[in-house]
Amino acid sequence: MTAMKSSYIDEIMKPYSLTTFRDEYWEKKPFFVHNRGRVWPFTDLIDLLKSPEELTKHYGSLVTAFGSAIVDLKEGLANRMLVPGQRAVELYKEGCTLEFDHLDQHIPQLRDMLDEFRTTMGMPTGTFTKSVSYMSPSSSGLDMHFDAFSNFVFQLEGSKTWWFKPNENAPFPLQHYELDEYPYVPEDLREYWTGTPPAAPPNEDTDYLAVHMEPGSFLYVPRGWWHGTKASGSSISLNLTFSQPTWLDLALYVVRKRLSRSPIWREAAEGFEPNGEGAAGARAKDLAARIIDDIGDISASDLTGAQTMEHDSYQIANAVMRQTTELQL
Ligand SMILES: [Fe+2]
Repeated sequence: MTAMKSSYIDEIMKPYSLTTFRDEYWEKKPFFVHNRGRVWPFTDLIDLLKSPEELTKHYGSLVTAFGSAIVDLKEGLANRMLVPGQRAVELYKEGCTLEFDHLDQHIPQLRDMLDEFRTTMGMPTGTFTKSVSYMSPSSSGLDMHFDAFSNFVFQLEGSKTWWFKPNENAPFPLQHYELDEYPYVPEDLREYWTGTPPAAPPNEDTDYLAVHMEPGSFLYVPRGWWHGTKASGSSISLNLTFSQPTWLDLALYVVRKRLSRSPIWREAAEGFEPNGEGAAGARAKDLAARIIDDIGDISASDLTGAQTMEHDSYQIANAVMRQTTELQL
């Protein structure tokens, strides 16, 4: 286990210890503590996060608005929209939930918190981290789904219920999936999908784990667990999310580097024909026969040495898009 000295993370997890969290919950099951009336150890952020009016003064990106007002505006074709801050405040007053994504690009203290959580939990340096705040004026929620990242949630205002179930269909998934997509399962996910998903919706009578978040509550959502949410009134939360490379990502990075050494692997794949494999088939046969030799032996340090590589191209592209669409405040 990584040695750690993180007094404010210790503080957040009380009465549990960081060691208990790491041994019993991290990557295993949801963790939550409720501490009504607590003073969060990031007091100077609290004033920024108390309302959309305040936060938009410090947030230079477009805000994502969700809700029925958007469905009406988009004539049923979409339920979300990227809008400038001032418009977001208006939509909030009309009942929309607002998502302030990549908040750490605008508030450096959040970047420090992300780094501290990442190092404390022993995540690779190439982990894609970001902070997101959700502000909802009224009852709203997210349908059951699972994510390919882990999430730490601080409930700042209002209350929200989270529903959980272990993911027995696709443990440690490599992608996000929404329950209402079922029975459609994307090809990548089908490689390791088993069984039928949980029945929706969750309620007090089902065997979902229910976590009722109130101001002062802290929650850890492990990567891959089925979950859904419902706010019972207004709700403001701060989220720290972590897209960790998997061992598979590290291995693929090493394999790609090894194979890239030979010109034969850098050639464009070609010779495909509409009906049948054609010349591509013969070429692929040669390549398949040599691939193991070309990769060669892989050591533990080859894999751990790949921890710095950035792997989440979707999140990276999204972050760059936001950096290049900076608004004038
Ligand atoms: Fe989620």
